[in-house]
Amino acid sequence: MADERERVQPSGVWATAVGVARVRALESEREDALFRDPLAQAFAAAGGLWPSSPPPDDEGARRRRLAVSFSIVIRTKFLDDLLQQASVSGVRQVVLLGAGMDSRAFRMDWPEGTRLFEVDTSAPLDFKASVLRQGRAVARCERITVPVDLREDWPGALAAAGHDPAAPTVWIAEGLLVYLPEDAVELLLARISALSVVGSWMGLTLGSPGVIERFAADAAPGSAASMWVSEMPDDPVGWLAGHGWDAAGYTLRERAAAYGRPINTPPQREERPGGLISAVRR
Ligand SMILES: C[S@@+](CC[C@H](N)C(=O)[O-])C[C@H]1O[C@@H](n2cnc3c(N)ncnc32)[C@H](O)[C@@H]1O
Repeated sequence: MADERERVQPSGVWATAVGVARVRALESEREDALFRDPLAQAFAAAGGLWPSSPPPDDEGARRRRLAVSFSIVIRTKFLDDLLQQASVSGVRQVVLLGAGMDSRAFRMDWPEGTRLFEVDTSAPLDFKASVLRQGRAVARCERITVPVDLREDWPGALAAAGHDPAAPTVWIAEGLLVYLPEDAVELLLARISALSVVGSWMGLTLGSPGVIERFAADAAPGSAASMWVSEMPDDPVGWLAGHGWDAAGYTLRERAAAYGRPINTPPQREERPGGLISAVRR
């Protein structure tokens, strides 16, 4: 077990998880925060991203950074609400795919008997564990980490960790699918669907159309945008229906307005619903 001095530093795709924590730490400092993540600052600091760096000088880069940060805040709130609804409906199994520095096990209220599985590769889970140990963080539900690459046999690893496919599950893939090629996304969804009884829930975030091209200018080697490879399908709701899910798709703009954070600039391109998905298993 790595302690503070020998903690592996973020690299590759999992470094993006620490960037997300930085954004959540900044949001948590606002008086009108849409959520409070008391661990986010510790994750960001352990990864060298706190205090947060000043915005870039370049106007375009600054706008793109703000847009990504804003979308992270809105999606976090969207999925917090979805998890709460799933809990209220009686779901007691939660699976966070590509969990990164997600601290929902520690910061949300969970009904008794909730089991929450965090699936990610071992490096971010080890890093996270060392920060949690240092902060003496205590989970508010049963929390089980599952170190596995989602391109490998993660259903086997999840089963070995105690996931019960006969009971409903709420699945979250937040900020994950954009990093997986289309065929891997398809396989992931097929596997989730095979493990989901009626009454299961799912919350997804998908790259909006054209986002990869728009952000390419900012895509310095190693940056999050440089690793984005997939966007949402033309008809995300239909795509999910084909896998047995009743889905609803939202735009960031629509959800942001609903949460009292309206986007006041007019859309510069068509905004199709589907970047934020909530779905229930038929
Ligand atoms: C942008 S972060 C989002 C983390 C978390 N879902 C959140 O929103 O706080 C993407 C996460 O997906 C994970 N990830 C990407 N590809 C993966 C793969 N093939 N197997 C397991 N995890 C993966 C990364 O390690 C990282 O933690």
